[in-house]
Amino acid sequence: MKPGIGDRFQEETKYGRGRLGGGYLDWRARPEPVKRYPDAPRFKLDPPQREGGLPLWEAVGRRRSVREYRNIPMTKAELSQLIWAGQGVTTKISGYELRAAPSAGALYPVETYLFIQNVDGLEKGIYHYSVKEHELELIRQADFRPALAEAALDQEFLAEAAIVFAWTAVFGRSKWKYRERAYRYVYLDAGHIAQNVALAAVALGLGSCQVAALYDDEVNALLGVDGEEESVLYLTSVGRP
Ligand SMILES: Cc1cc2nc3c(=O)[nH]c(=O)nc-3n(C[C@H](O)[C@H](O)[C@H](O)COP(=O)(O)O)c2cc1C
Repeated sequence: MKPGIGDRFQEETKYGRGRLGGGYLDWRARPEPVKRYPDAPRFKLDPPQREGGLPLWEAVGRRRSVREYRNIPMTKAELSQLIWAGQGVTTKISGYELRAAPSAGALYPVETYLFIQNVDGLEKGIYHYSVKEHELELIRQADFRPALAEAALDQEFLAEAAIVFAWTAVFGRSKWKYRERAYRYVYLDAGHIAQNVALAAVALGLGSCQVAALYDDEVNALLGVDGEEESVLYLTSVGRP
């Protein structure tokens, strides 16, 4: 096969001895690792639980992609736990808030959005996760189920899920340090987050499916992000199997 853009990307973003992409870091320009929606209505999430759930080995052994969900609302406690497992703050060290999933350089380029579709006590709509406060910010209130399934190559099961995570990357956060290699790292970050959510779902007796087959700019338009500085990477549907 003729080398394409992916092959060039792989080659040109390799680290080699004496060939590291970085260099001088302007600490005054260090990007903030969070996005804010200051005017959005806010919803407090339940305090995350650090004990209980299924033991880890059992959760790893039982995880499967689940694409059929019962029409039973998710509780707010379950929602909170899933979000926290993906991107919640788990400790503070020397002023840095570190999260449940690892992130290259602790730069946290991934933003978490949620399509809330069937959760007790929350209206359907698109919400953004406010990491520092462990709160949701309501971006758009409406039933996005058909539009979301269409934007994901007509994968209808997304419309049946209680919630669908949408993770975007704010590329500049990682490019500040890693330049073009950042494009490797944002996808790795997203993978860690998605796996945490997948295991958390199993631990709660829920099922999830990771979805990367999507029309990027259709999902971006739903989320209200520009597709250049910030663009969708990955989705995960969760519901009761
Ligand atoms: C990067 C990635 C993208 C995926 N995209 C989709 C998708 O668009 N639609 C889907 O139904 N499953 C998708 N999956 C789920 C895989 O099909 C599934 O993980 C695989 O068949 C193995 O099955 P298991 O998850 O039950 O172990 C994706 C998984 C990964 C890791």
